[in-house]
Amino acid sequence: MMVAAGTVETEIAERIKKSGGVCLQGEDCASNSGSMVVASADSGGAKTNYDKTCATCHAAGIAGAPKLGDKGAWSPRLEKGMDVLYASGINGLPPAMPAKGMCFTCSDDDIKAIVDYMVDSVR
Ligand code: HEC
Repeated sequence: MMVAAGTVETEIAERIKKSGGVCLQGEDCASNSGSMVVASADSGGAKTNYDKTCATCHAAGIAGAPKLGDKGAWSPRLEKGMDVLYASGINGLPPAMPAKGMCFTCSDDDIKAIVDYMVDSVR
């Protein structure tokens, strides 16, 4: 059986639609509920980015990560100053804190906003 290439493409597009659709960055995803969001930068602010990536370690304190809202864990870090904390967020802090906290789609400014969010939780 022969299938023209165009037919196959249409068929694949149809299948993607059935699974809920793919919402690419820059498209209006909100009106397309149930779709998979393929966005890079921030689509919901620092808290959303925190929940997506940083929370993996920082919610439970994995590997000694300072927990959100844990003043005791954060106070010695706050003394280092925000610039140092931003740099740790962006560059990582070996061995356990990965660069950009594994939020590979976050820009440096996104990381700074998340660090602000984390620090605000203990102020
Ligand atoms: C794989 C686990 C993990 C993830 C994911 C993670 N962290 Fe961390 N983070 C750590 C650990 C462990 C430390 C403590 C490192 C230390 O003190 O040696 C830490 C420390 C920090 C610190 C304090 C740095 C300092 O200089 O004291 C900041 C700020 C921070 N993380 C921000 C983030 C942000 C923002 C994200 C998400 C974008 C993130 N982390 C994701 C494990 C993680």
